[in-house]
Amino acid sequence: MKIINNILRKIRNFFYKNLKRGIELRKLENINDDTLNSVVRALKHVISNKISQEEKFWVDKIENLRRNLLTSTNEITIVDYGAISPNTCLTEVEKDKGRIIKKTIGVAIKGSVPYTEGILLFKLVKEFQPSTCLELGTALGISSSYQSAALELNNRGRMVTIEGAKSVAELARENHKILGLSRVISKIGKFENVLEEIINEIKPVDFVFIDGNHEETATLNYFNTIAPSLSDYAILVFDDLRWSKGMKRAWKALTQDNRIKFAIDLIGMGILVISKSENKKRVFKLLLK
Ligand SMILES: C[S@@+](CC[C@H](N)C(=O)[O-])C[C@H]1O[C@@H](n2cnc3c(N)ncnc32)[C@H](O)[C@@H]1O
Repeated sequence: MKIINNILRKIRNFFYKNLKRGIELRKLENINDDTLNSVVRALKHVISNKISQEEKFWVDKIENLRRNLLTSTNEITIVDYGAISPNTCLTEVEKDKGRIIKKTIGVAIKGSVPYTEGILLFKLVKEFQPSTCLELGTALGISSSYQSAALELNNRGRMVTIEGAKSVAELARENHKILGLSRVISKIGKFENVLEEIINEIKPVDFVFIDGNHEETATLNYFNTIAPSLSDYAILVFDDLRWSKGMKRAWKALTQDNRIKFAIDLIGMGILVISKSENKKRVFKLLLK
């Protein structure tokens, strides 16, 4: 009886989740805003797992590389400047110096965006067609590969990705090279030290993915540093919205920011849309998968 009840509950949840997602998507679809419309098209492609032949060429290459890296037992030494865990409070000195960590590439690659989120970034860049993309947190280069592969298909645009750990950034550069990605530049440096200068070099920025140092104040500081240099129509994606209480507070503050027109909470990731359209600010919540 317990097993049957569990199965029934799962079926009910499945239909409930899909119904809720359908309703939210329809609300999003009915809003007339070009930037938001490109996000909605990307979300629909991800939900229906729609990948064309030319897209599959890149997706397969990236996922094959991920599979190879997962089997690597080579050890790397990383200076990590990010938040260690959701409950750790670091002193300013600890944040400044970073922590030295040793791990195999096989373990390190597990911190990359999973397939579905990679596809979401890929589809967002394909649909939105940005000229300039910026990423905070390169790691071994999986998410930047998805975004810059989309730039290859768009045949336009460039991307700068920033990583604090030199050893990791160098491997990411190699990975970009193996994949044949020509529109991505990898920069090494602590966000706090290099972000402003890099933004001044590349602005205006149309598309941003923030996936490093999941800490409340740091996340808000990165947004505040980037915001003045965003294009009039821009998309920002944040990863790990629910990683900690601090990240949840940061996301709430971001959705309330006056510079934002639409916010889409996908539970794991969050998308912010900057747009000059006349629409009222709105926040949506939908389960991606
Ligand atoms: C979750 S990983 C990024 C994963 C990558 N976006 C992907 O999906 O392929 C976060 C990265 O951000 C880097 N990082 C964290 N805090 C940083 C900081 N303050 N400055 C520079 N890099 C930082 C870490 O070294 C780590 O490699």
